[in-house]
Amino acid sequence: MNSLQDKKSLTVLAIESSCDETACAIVRDGRTVLSNVIATQIEIHRRFGGVVPEIASRNHTLAIENVVREAIKQANVTKDDIDAIAVTYGAGLLGALLVGVNFAKALAYAWDKPLYAVSHVKGHIAGNYIDGTLEPPYLCLLVSGGHTAIVKVEDYEHITLIAQSRDDAVGEAFDKVARVLGLPYPGGPEIQKKAREGKPVFDMPVPKSSGLDDLYFSYSGLKTYVINLVHKLQQKGEELPVCDIAASFQKCAVKQLIDALELVSDATGIKKLAIAGGVSANEELRRAADGLKAKGCEVYYPKLVYCTDNAAMIASAGYYAIMSGAEQADMTLDAKATVPLK
Ligand code: KG4
Ligand code: ZN
Repeated sequence: MNSLQDKKSLTVLAIESSCDETACAIVRDGRTVLSNVIATQIEIHRRFGGVVPEIASRNHTLAIENVVREAIKQANVTKDDIDAIAVTYGAGLLGALLVGVNFAKALAYAWDKPLYAVSHVKGHIAGNYIDGTLEPPYLCLLVSGGHTAIVKVEDYEHITLIAQSRDDAVGEAFDKVARVLGLPYPGGPEIQKKAREGKPVFDMPVPKSSGLDDLYFSYSGLKTYVINLVHKLQQKGEELPVCDIAASFQKCAVKQLIDALELVSDATGIKKLAIAGGVSANEELRRAADGLKAKGCEVYYPKLVYCTDNAAMIASAGYYAIMSGAEQADMTLDAKATVPLK
């Protein structure tokens, strides 16, 4: 029990800097966003074809103060309206995370506010709560640049891992396939755009699990298949059918996710399903997930702005951590490159 749990209403200021977005948001009661400011570094990293960790940290340092000031201004609040500060402590790029963690510690100290450490993955899951009605328990398909997994969200604080990728994350596969197709970083939205103009004519491999006991995801096979296909076509001097390859890849990547989600839903009898993480912005994935409604499933995904990295989802997860009686962090809080999925 903490004193904040007794309050009628809680306003959380959150900071997120795990990768290439510097973000600050102010959220009331876990679901109402007062402000959500994101300074993206995508243009800076695009010329390198992916995120350069050292450059990401430096740009977080340059951006963070203005981003936090802007979030406070847009929410039209003062420090007295803020009940707690939440910050992403992992998983992510260490140097990038440290900028947000240290800024949050300084703010909590200067303002004398309680500080809460939030896992990035739990933040992505909480993206589904913003402006929404979803409540645990449910199954969540986590799909980002760093994770591909199905977890059972038992309650607001506890998740149980059911299956995960043995190799690449699905977002990573989108990014790598985009790169071999000559599309800019980040690859997911680019593949989606090209796929709209193409047909899924290439029969690409989809790993098959026989049941819940050996359920896993794998994207290295699919990625290698596309790389080999591209090299073969280039050697023959043929023009790359970029749109058809994108459509075929996206279809197979999504099929693997939805087949697994359906399998877990059938095996567990859990019909409340959510999707979270950057790849949950994908229109083909949303369409395929909606298809499960025909089987009596409820399907949830975050609004587009809360799919990719943002701080509103961290504020929401922070709120539910407080309400679940989670321990406060202190000035020894450290960033972690990896955080177990639990
Ligand atoms: O959650 P996120 O912003 O960062 C991580 O926590 O990793 O996810 C980023 C990933 C990238 O791999 C990006 O290509 C992918 O999400 N992504 C998409 C789409 N939008 C972002 N993948 C497929 N379709 C999209 N529309
Ligand atoms: Zn993320």
